[in-house]
Amino acid sequence: MILKTLKEVLKEAFNNCGYNEDINVIVSNRPDLCDYQCDDAFKIAKLYHKNPILIGEEVTNKLKELDNFNFYFKEVTFVKPGFINMVVSDELINNEIQKMMDDEHFNLEKVKKETYFLDYGGPNVAKPLHVGHLRTAIIGESLKRIINFVGHKTVSDVHLGDYGLQIGEVIYAVKEDGLSIDDITLEYLDEAYPRMSKICKENEEIMQRCALITKELQDGNKEYQEIWKKIYEVSVNDIKRIYEYLDVSFDLWEGESDGYKYIPNVTEELNKLNLLKDSEGAKIIEVKTEDDKKEMPPLIYQKSNGAYLYGTTDLAAIYERVNEYNPNHILYITDLRQGLHFEQVFRASKKWGITKDINLEHLGYGTVNGSDGKPFKTRSGDTVKLDGLFKQVKEAFISTKETNKDMKDEDLDILVNAIIKFADLQNNREKDYIFDILKFSNVVGKTGPYILYTYVRINKILNNEKLQINKLNNEIYNKFDRDLRLKLLDLNTYIMTAFNERRPHHIAEYIYDLCVLCNIFYQNNHITGLEEDKKQQWLLLLTFTNKLLKELLNLLAIKIPSEM
Ligand code: ARG
Repeated sequence: MILKTLKEVLKEAFNNCGYNEDINVIVSNRPDLCDYQCDDAFKIAKLYHKNPILIGEEVTNKLKELDNFNFYFKEVTFVKPGFINMVVSDELINNEIQKMMDDEHFNLEKVKKETYFLDYGGPNVAKPLHVGHLRTAIIGESLKRIINFVGHKTVSDVHLGDYGLQIGEVIYAVKEDGLSIDDITLEYLDEAYPRMSKICKENEEIMQRCALITKELQDGNKEYQEIWKKIYEVSVNDIKRIYEYLDVSFDLWEGESDGYKYIPNVTEELNKLNLLKDSEGAKIIEVKTEDDKKEMPPLIYQKSNGAYLYGTTDLAAIYERVNEYNPNHILYITDLRQGLHFEQVFRASKKWGITKDINLEHLGYGTVNGSDGKPFKTRSGDTVKLDGLFKQVKEAFISTKETNKDMKDEDLDILVNAIIKFADLQNNREKDYIFDILKFSNVVGKTGPYILYTYVRINKILNNEKLQINKLNNEIYNKFDRDLRLKLLDLNTYIMTAFNERRPHHIAEYIYDLCVLCNIFYQNNHITGLEEDKKQQWLLLLTFTNKLLKELLNLLAIKIPSEM
């Protein structure tokens, strides 16, 4: 880690001048002037009541003295009023890259292993998966991979919505339509759920009957349980197929229904603590605090008709997770609009004390919009089903280039995934974005096809040549070469930022930058026909870059096509 190395060198220089403090070094924000900079003369000046200019000059001179063989720096300059600018030596750059190449884990920062429980996916049984479910799956899968990559343990749960009103509605339809269990198919669910959902919005009485069915199902009604099992099976099979297509997976296939067996225990614990209050026949948990500026309604634990709600099942799920998996963190990846719900659940669980030592986070994300800036819909205004979306993206990609239609089906599916995922994951998750299929499918621009094309192109060169070395020498041959190498050294920062902020877009950003620099390198440096020494050095550099790219793409759950 070059930043770590530089921090140590700088610290020594500051120390030698009598300033015994921790020193920070950052990547230069003026790459035209230098590679790295240290702005800590300001901090030290405050602490020691001195002029930052004097400190900066003093430390810069000391640095030059310490580095009299120019191992670390090509140039160190002090810039008023307090910046120490560093251009590092080629030798140092290559040394640090070599450490990354020699280490099986790219010489990344080591962490103390903890357990992260991730709750993402969250599809609702009986409803087809639509665009709204895309982001939780894509972001959640990526976060899981990033957290693992950094060195932690993860447990992932799809947390199905499998016991809510939509089930009562479909059971009502099955009975009304006079169907037997075997008649419940995917096609039937696709038709029955939207129909019932519309009816219930218009007819309060039917809606109440569906709510009652839901309640009786939860209470264990045999007939309803049978129908529910079949709906579950049909629906979950299809959900699994879609996740498989997206290369999204889970350790646990639990759902809201699994929480029910814990509810008696949870209720007992909450009662002991006197946390359940009566409110017009319902049971609630107050979660307001005195310094709340915003509205903070209580969590409704049990309705007056005895039914449990979304918040109850989330508390029961926490009970199970804490007891079974003993996590240090529980992360929930859902639409930002569920922010209040999770705030209530988190507060209730803290009052209860069950998550005293556990970090709970709601990682919200924005909406996928159409070109009109409103949530992405079909022309007729329906939500877009994922199958349809995949098909549309595939067609768009094929339309961008004549020969794309000849690609293998497997490769096309990889491209569809890359297009959707890279378009999504390059955005800060909290941001809404416009789903512009043609733009995302283009091989030019900040797109999945551009990234994969870069990889495949480099791979072609590598396949035509034979790499015979595994050590870099001390040389860097030109500016394009140097820019690429410096970027490789940024890896740790991007990975750790993505991890700490739970934001995969930092990795997408890094991948894109790396690809741009690779392409510039490639356009300006022709490898074939070079003298052997230099050729081998570049082959080694490109081999490593491509290996890294592949690993990073895997963190976004993007695979590499066999050809493009
Ligand atoms: N099924 C929910 C929905 O569609 C998402 C579940 C999120 N996870 C949770 N533990 N509440 O909104």
